[in-house]
This record gives sequence, structure tokens and C-alpha cells, in this order.
Amino acid sequence: MCGIVGYLGNNQATPVLLSKLRCLEYRGYDSAGVAVIEGDRLNIIKSAGKLSNLETLLQQERPSSTIGIGHTRWATHGSPTNENAHPHTDSTGTFAVVHNGIIENYAQLRTELIEQGYVFTTETDTEVTVHLLSREYEKDQDILGAIIRTVNVMKGAFALGIVSLKHRDRIYAVNHHYSLTVGLGENESFLASDSTAVRQYTNKIVRLEQSEIAEIKTNSYRLFSFDGTEAFREPVSLNTEPYKIDKEGFKHFLLKEINEQPLVLRQTMSKYLPNFSSNPKAPISFNVERFSADSSEGVYGVKMTDNEIKSIKRIIIVACGTALNAGMVGKLVIEQLCSIPVEVEIASEIQTRNILADESTLVIAVSQSGETADTLAAMKAAKAKGAYTLGITNRPDSHLAQIASNLIVTECGIEVSVAATKTYVAQLMCFYLLAIYLGEKRGSISQDHAVEMKKTLHAMPALMEQILAREEEYKTLSLKLADASDVVFIARGVNYPTALEGALKLKELSYIHASGYAAGELKHGPIAVLDSAVPVITVLVPGKVYEKTLSNAQESRARNARMVAVAVDGDEMAPETFDHIFRIPPVEELFSPLVTIVPLQLMSYFVADYLGKDVDQPRNLAKSVTVE
Ligand code: F6R
Repeated sequence: MCGIVGYLGNNQATPVLLSKLRCLEYRGYDSAGVAVIEGDRLNIIKSAGKLSNLETLLQQERPSSTIGIGHTRWATHGSPTNENAHPHTDSTGTFAVVHNGIIENYAQLRTELIEQGYVFTTETDTEVTVHLLSREYEKDQDILGAIIRTVNVMKGAFALGIVSLKHRDRIYAVNHHYSLTVGLGENESFLASDSTAVRQYTNKIVRLEQSEIAEIKTNSYRLFSFDGTEAFREPVSLNTEPYKIDKEGFKHFLLKEINEQPLVLRQTMSKYLPNFSSNPKAPISFNVERFSADSSEGVYGVKMTDNEIKSIKRIIIVACGTALNAGMVGKLVIEQLCSIPVEVEIASEIQTRNILADESTLVIAVSQSGETADTLAAMKAAKAKGAYTLGITNRPDSHLAQIASNLIVTECGIEVSVAATKTYVAQLMCFYLLAIYLGEKRGSISQDHAVEMKKTLHAMPALMEQILAREEEYKTLSLKLADASDVVFIARGVNYPTALEGALKLKELSYIHASGYAAGELKHGPIAVLDSAVPVITVLVPGKVYEKTLSNAQESRARNARMVAVAVDGDEMAPETFDHIFRIPPVEELFSPLVTIVPLQLMSYFVADYLGKDVDQPRNLAKSVTVE
């Protein structure tokens, strides 16, 4: 979703701003802009559409300035037009503001400002900020005071970048339940909503805390809380390599990331199950570690004591989208191995309910970005009830990492493609490891059983490589489905979430309508949509639910649906029911979701690419969904 950047120093600002905006592109956006202080005016250049549109305008205008802010906007209030693109300015052209998030009381503030004579020129909620700043600044010409008074009347979660003609030596940044990072270079400073965009230029960073304002100058910075109290925090030096954002020869980031999955599983396992080959009996270790790649100086790991783990009576998993599907697999595995009741909740739904969580509840929030507003709100609500909290995220520098008391990090590197793939399988891996970890601690599984399961997990990356080697075969099969306008995915048990995730991938990448169903539910309604035009894709793995799933598939065949399956090599029953089969090597049912999703990811990719869709940045989608 929206991204904020800023620069001040001795270099030209716009090339730096543009390159930082490129780093944030993956978050998803539909317009972009910059504001630079050029001579005695604020020069605001912005455009709907891709960054290339903004780049063309910048090449035409060639603004000369060493201080500015920039933004990628994912439209919430008002369509993605040039006018609604950020930055926004006040009627005197004194302030420019870029904004992430939503100002929940903007309608009331807007009415009040209009009554006071302020003229609005956009449909955005952001515009109230710049008029409020202008109004407050008028009172005493104190810019910090004006910012403090402004943010104190705004409700919601937001981050701001502000420049002013009256103070040409500084940028202000405001962080309120968001993420913003300040980077400190030699005679230059940077601002970005994602530390990746700062890390390109410097390894010295300051992450803003919640409800904090930063006054950033070329060689210094000051931090203030919303009541004006100054805070003193040293910058942190990152010792990790900056993320490399490179397709490395693949046509798309998505295809690269699908192919990285075996590596991601290996990395995640070697982090939490080190030395497994030499000592298979070694316990899973979610040891608390100092996290040096993050200015929050946080620690991560599972910090709950054995007694606390034994005291858990209930687990609630909260997440959205793909992470929610991973959570559904997590539920099944934890229930099976730990005999703890687990509920999986759509984060946007649970947060407003009376969450039945208490001191014996563990709430697990799963979020690739660690910035998903609904997931964060759900976790905060559960935390307020006294529940233990555990975050599973790919971003140890995220807001989720700050608020969760326990943290498991998926070792994926940055995921650039908007559609989640490698982070999904890494989340699944974390759930398998967590379930075994909890099961061993609570005594619900024996050590021998745990060792067997760890061995199975260890074999998964190689299995996945065998599947990926069938890419060409899958491509041929996939293109047979590219003419469909509706696709149904069915499965049972541990692969029911695979059906949901397969359908989600297909619709977000190809824009073909797809739905996933528990196979047994098909006859309770969805079967009405089946005819010879509708492919039914069944995920079928030998095990507890095999026969029943096959029967449900046959019900579809009897309605002339186009029958497709993901089925294992050697399944001789499958050809009787299915016209097309994505074959995978035999796999143990409980762990199969780690690999059954791979042919479906590839299928969605091939169909979308064949149809000419924007595979890495599908329309309307955002990678970091930072509004509720
Ligand atoms: C789908 C996808 C989304 C995200 C969802 C949650 O491919 O990426 O459904 O899974 O928006 O995002 P995170 O995991 O960042 O909380």
C-alpha cells in the first residue's frame, strides 16, 4: 500500500526519491508523486499510474532541489487521479504532506475547515492534514507545535512526511501505528516507510516508535512524542546486507519466488532446527535472540516458559488472505499434534467482536508484511484481554514484531511479487515446527514421533525441487484452463486450505473468478454452478480423506465439469476421474500442503502470463495492506 520517502542532503533529491519509491513499488500503488523545495517554491510533481509516468514528468521538468518527499498512493478516499495523488499542499503553497493510512475523522475535520474558509481541491482524507497544519502554523509560526496540535486532533492510524517552505533545512516525519524509518548518511538523511528503501543508502537507521514525530536535518535528528516531550534514541547500525531486488534471470519475480521455495524451507528449518542431520533428536529451538538488523533492538523467539506453554488452553490464529490460509493448515496440525483447540479467525472480523481470550489463550498473528492493519488490530485486541501473543512474519522490522511478545520469523528474504508464494510455504513450515515444538513441550507427542516428523520436514525441499522440475509439463496443462471464466477448487482436511489458496492465487493473478470449497460442501450449493465450461480442480493425496474426496470429484464429473487434479505419481484411480492431472511425487498427507500448492501456484502464474496480466503487480492489489 502507500509508501513514504524523503531526502535531504547535498545531492539532487528527485533521483534519490525516485529510486526509493522504486523500492516501495512492490507494496502496491496506483499513483505517485514528489514535492521538492526549489528556490522559493514548493514544486509538486505527481501522476496517476505507474512510476514510469512520474519519471517521465521528472525528466521533462528536471527540478533542482536537495530536499523533498515522495509517495506511492494506493487509493482509499478518491480514485487514483493526478489530483488525488500525493503530495498535497495548502492554499498558500507553504506545506507539502504525504500520508499513509486513514484519518478516520476526516469528514468532520473537513467540514470544520471548510466552515473556516479552507478550500479543498481533492477527494482525499489527507488534505485535511495540510490545511490543519496551515491553520495551526498561522497561530504562532511554531512548526513543531503546529504538527503536534495537528496530529492530536486526527484519529486513526497514519504516517506522514512533511516539508515546509518556511523551514528549508528539515523534513518532519510522523508515525502513529505505522512504520517509518529514518536513515542517517554522511551529510544527508533519508526517510522511508520501509527500511529496505533506506538500507540502499545507509546502514545507520532510527526506526520511529508509535506516536512519534521526527525532525530530520542533514546531520542530525530529534524525536518527540505527541505531547511534545523530546525522546533520545541512538541510531542503530545494521550489519546485514541490504536486500537484493533482482529477478535474477526469471521473467517475473513471482516465478523466481516460486522457485525459491525449497531454499526458503531449508533456511527456515536450519534456523529453528540447526544441526538436525548430525543430531536428529535435538529439540526445535525458537531461542530468543537479539535482532541486530533492526533498530528496535528487539528480541525474538518464543519466550514463553515451559509452564506457560503447558497452561495454554486455547489458541486463536488471526490473519488475512494467504496468511489466513496458512493459519488454517496451522490449526489442523496443532490440533492433531497438541490436542489444543484452535480457532482461525479472519482478522478484520474478530477485532470488533468480544474476543473470548484470556491469560490461558495464545493468539498467533500471521502476516508476511507484519503491517496488515486488520491483523495488528486483532492482535492488539487479544493482547488487551491478557492473551499470550505470537507473531509469525517475514519482516522482523515490522510493527507486528514490535507488538508481539513472541516472534517467529520466516526466512524468505524480501517477497517482491504482490501475490504471496514463498512466504506461504514458509508460514506453513513455521506452523509444522511450532506444532512439534508445542507437542514436545506439552508431552502430547513422543520424542520418536517428533524425530519422524522432523525427518519428513527435512525431505520436503527436495520433494519440492522434484515438483518444480515438472514446470514445462505443468505449463502445458495449465494453458488448457486459460479459457475458463470460473474455476472451482476442492479438497478435504489438511488440503482444504490448499484449495482456498489455489483459488486465491488464480483469481488475483489471472482475474479469473475462482472459489475454493471443502469438497464435502460442494453438494450443498456450489455444485449448481458446474457445467462443461467449469474446471473443477481437486487436490487429492492418499490418506484419511482420499476416498471421500474422490467421491466428491466424481459428483462433479457426473455434472460434466472439466476434471483436473493434483494427484500423486502412482495413483492409478485418478485417470478414471480426471481429464488432466498435475502429478506430484508421493507425499505424507499431514505434510502435503507444503507441496500440493506448488503446481497450483505455477498454474496460476502460467495462465496469468498467457493472458498478458501484470503478474507481479496485479490490478487493485497491495502488498502491505495498512488500512482496515
Ligand atoms: C495473496 C496475498 C494477500 C496477503 C494478505 C495478508 O497473495 O498476498 O492475501 O496474504 O493481504 O498480508 P500479510 O501476510 O502481509 O498480513
